[in-house]
Amino acid sequence: MRARTLSLAISSALAFSLLTAMAEDKKFDASKLPPASDQKDVTYAKDIKPILDKSCVKCHGGEKPKGKLRLETLEGAIKGAKSGAVIVPGKSGESSLVYAVAHVGDEDDFMPPPNNKANIAQLTKEQVALIRAWIDQGAK
Ligand code: HEC
Repeated sequence: MRARTLSLAISSALAFSLLTAMAEDKKFDASKLPPASDQKDVTYAKDIKPILDKSCVKCHGGEKPKGKLRLETLEGAIKGAKSGAVIVPGKSGESSLVYAVAHVGDEDDFMPPPNNKANIAQLTKEQVALIRAWIDQGAK
């Protein structure tokens, strides 16, 4: 009897972690992202900073960056937000920043925020593809 209760407890715990893992997968469904660019040697300084300076740094820079996420330096981008990392070097499909800029997943997380007062437009597919390539290549 006790063994049965125990095995029940174990299988519920397993089912629960499986469900959590599935929810996590759904949050990061890389099949919905534009593919990474095949450009080689993508770097923050050369390729990525210009994109972020134009579309993000108005809110993610200066004295009080939104979400404590600073995108005007490579260190800031890697360090992430108050809630944690937004980039996983080597894994663009697991980097929340990529989903935010591709407008894939939770609408509340889309970046730049749709209809923002500063009228900053969504990134193009090509820009998202370049950001993916940069992260996949180690986010240097
Ligand atoms: C008009 C202002 C604005 C612009 C422009 C903007 N953001 Fe944001 N961003 C916000 C706000 C507000 C939040 C929510 C902060 C919070 O949760 O406190 C946020 C949050 C985020 C987060 C989530 C941080 C976390 O807590 O995990 C990411 C990632 C992000 N932004 C990336 C970007 C990127 C990349 C760009 C440029 C392509 C961008 N943002 C442009 C205002 C902006």
